[in-house]
Amino acid sequence: MHPLECRRLLPQDLKPLTVSGYISQGGGLAIKKALSMAPADIIEELKKANLRGRGGAGFPTAIKWGGVRNEPCPTKYVVCNFSEGEPGTYKDRYNILKNPYHLLEGIAIAIHAIGAKEAYIGIKKKYKPQIHRLFSARKEMENSGIIQSGVIKIHLGQDEYLYGEEKGLIESIDGNFPMPRNIPPYIQGVNFTPNSPNPTCVNNVESFCQVTHIMDKGANWFKSVGSEDTPGTVMCTVCGDIKQPGVYELAAGKVTLKQLLYDIAQGPVGQSPLKAVFSGVASGVVTPERFDTPLDFGSLKKVGGGLGSGGFIVYDQNACMVQAALKFSNFLAKSSCGQCVPCNWGTVHITEYLKKIEFGRGCQDDIEAILEICGCCTNQTRCFLPTQESILISSIIKAFPGEFKAHIEGQRPSQERDLVLPKLHDYNEETFTFSYDDPAKFSI
Ligand SMILES: Cc1cc2nc3c(=O)[nH]c(=O)nc-3n(C[C@H](O)[C@H](O)[C@H](O)COP(=O)(O)O)c2cc1C
Ligand code: SF4
Repeated sequence: MHPLECRRLLPQDLKPLTVSGYISQGGGLAIKKALSMAPADIIEELKKANLRGRGGAGFPTAIKWGGVRNEPCPTKYVVCNFSEGEPGTYKDRYNILKNPYHLLEGIAIAIHAIGAKEAYIGIKKKYKPQIHRLFSARKEMENSGIIQSGVIKIHLGQDEYLYGEEKGLIESIDGNFPMPRNIPPYIQGVNFTPNSPNPTCVNNVESFCQVTHIMDKGANWFKSVGSEDTPGTVMCTVCGDIKQPGVYELAAGKVTLKQLLYDIAQGPVGQSPLKAVFSGVASGVVTPERFDTPLDFGSLKKVGGGLGSGGFIVYDQNACMVQAALKFSNFLAKSSCGQCVPCNWGTVHITEYLKKIEFGRGCQDDIEAILEICGCCTNQTRCFLPTQESILISSIIKAFPGEFKAHIEGQRPSQERDLVLPKLHDYNEETFTFSYDDPAKFSI
């Protein structure tokens, strides 16, 4: 293990855990302890830990749990978001292959703390090895009496980016296409009816896993690593033009992006230096003069980037940033569900303008048009997707004006490398390589 790594969720030796191995390391004690506590005290412990959700926004978990618990409707639900559909992210699938048990335990703790009837794990049906692991682990945990039988259900969902948006995820669990509804899950949740809104608490896989360890060892232990802004560890995925792609667990805020890229992931693959890092497709681009930024929510936000779900897509100098902008915008436009006109219209038009520029038919007015649409594609929309488009694409235009100018002036490099949208499919630990989803779904 690299000295900058800090494995608390991942097994020390990275060997997949068995249920007996899990129990021998103290597995099962957290739920036992939680069941002996008043729900309010569990939420208080999470508040003391200042656990921030690991699904992207870093929202405080205690506030979310307390809010759902305090809703007057007696029927409540817990949902675990195992969609992991953002380009550049693989950490939840990696974590669960190593240890599905701490996720199930964390969900059981949430059911008790929130006063929920039951829970759903929403996982894409194409994540076959992880589904298999979850089904067997649930059986093992039910048989060993650690979790109650029948209360954690597994929902197999569509291969859509919006299956990860919490309101889309709940629509899907309710049997529909994952088109985000208007009302947030803490007000209108799973299986709602006019008389029973069923407030629902949605959290990311890693957030529930962190809860298990906080319950077991306490908030002070959790805060003994990490920063004040983001206590604890974060699981980061690194992919792209980097020597050692992979998933690494780090003390949040104590390791810089530069250390992650150069020390842990071994730096660029070839001779070409690194030029740009994208944390998924929800934040602005980070360029080398900002690589010294610590990896936590607050620090990355300050430099125009974001921690997001900890997935870092790395490009070297040979990668064309106009093409990267086009590939990301095309992904978001194709993922937009079309319910909100500014989002659907905006993402499609930005993609069309980027296409013109990338293929040498663009002009300066097209750049102005993109920036103008970025300012209004977010008007009155149901979810954050068009805001992602707006932040991401305008940041690329601002960071690489020369590349856009060169394309407009017809100086596009003749041998431009084709960039693959890094929708990660699988990871080979022997060779440190990710395989990607079939890019045909998001072809230009
Ligand atoms: C378009 C879109 C896609 C998202 N995809 C995911 C995802 O794959 N996994 C995830 O945990 N959160 C995803 N989110 C965030 C969820 O809506 C939600 O905020 C998160 O699951 C809350 O969990 P947390 O509080 O534990 O972070 C997505 C959000 C948007 C707008
Ligand atoms: S903002 Fe876009 S992706 Fe989100 S619900 Fe509206 S149309 Fe669909």
